[in-house]
Amino acid sequence: MAGQEKPQGIAIVTGAARGIGAACAKALVEDGWTDLLICDLNGDLLEETAQKLHNSGARIRSLAGDVTAPDFMDRMIEACEGKPVAAAVHAAGVAPKMVDTARMLEINWESALAFTQAIKPRMADGGAAVLIASNTSYFPIDEDLREAFEQPLAAGESAAYVDRVGDSFKGYLLAKRGVRALAKSECVAFGERGARIVSVSPGLIDTEMTKERDTEVIQKMINESATKRVGDTSELAAAIAFLLSPKASFVTGCDLLVDGGETAGMGYQ
Ligand SMILES: NC(=O)c1ccc[n+]([C@@H]2O[C@H](COP(=O)([O-])OP(=O)(O)OC[C@H]3O[C@@H](n4cnc5c(N)ncnc54)[C@H](O)[C@@H]3O)[C@@H](O)[C@H]2O)c1
Repeated sequence: MAGQEKPQGIAIVTGAARGIGAACAKALVEDGWTDLLICDLNGDLLEETAQKLHNSGARIRSLAGDVTAPDFMDRMIEACEGKPVAAAVHAAGVAPKMVDTARMLEINWESALAFTQAIKPRMADGGAAVLIASNTSYFPIDEDLREAFEQPLAAGESAAYVDRVGDSFKGYLLAKRGVRALAKSECVAFGERGARIVSVSPGLIDTEMTKERDTEVIQKMINESATKRVGDTSELAAAIAFLLSPKASFVTGCDLLVDGGETAGMGYQ
């Protein structure tokens, strides 16, 4: 059994300027991680988040950029200054109303692949990665499309799925299916390095992204859930901090639903 000491190395969080990513960075610092690289497209907001974390005494580096840019993952690894990746959270993402289907698949699906490939050879023994999926990935969807999104994706390939997918909401569900499948299919390769990879599927969490969602759909999800409320980012971040900690040393290749019982309440599997 692995010990309870954190592995040596850096903790990376993407989408860290606000919302779930920012809450994860805060939770990691509170959990004793002392060396963080936080990344986001929104450079100004990222600096504000970094400033708040600096007070903790942890070393905080920040990297502004688009996770889908061809050179982003190289820049991210370079910013790790040769340190192994001890913890990683990929939280950068967009809601369906924010972008068209092509961009949805690129940001929410393909960047998870690029992130996973970039960190895999650099994972510390005992390290762990969390990819953020969504409980909408449990919503019913055409069987053939679901199966297509559960196949391994190659870089640059998501564009080929745009016409089959249709609208960006469906694209969101499928992209998040793809993220869950990615954590599952990569766990053996991560295991060869003594590392773990899991996905986390949040339900409604109180962030700016949730404001982009259809209020009727939100109310239905809340009404049918076990908890009858949206979740706080700190509740999700606490689960993620646990998954990244040595306490979760036997948890890999799976998805954790953190959704206040929305999926169960709606009768989805
Ligand atoms: N909020 C929810 O209810 C909810 C539910 C399920 C899943 N999720 C997922 O959680 C993740 C985080 O969502 P959130 O609610 O914190 O959203 P948010 O909009 O508050 O934060 C997302 C962050 O990602 C960054 N980002 C977006 N596109 C980027 C890009 N191309 N490159 C780099 N950074 C980029 C944004 O600038 C932002 O800071 C997303 O993957 C989202 O799909 C959220």
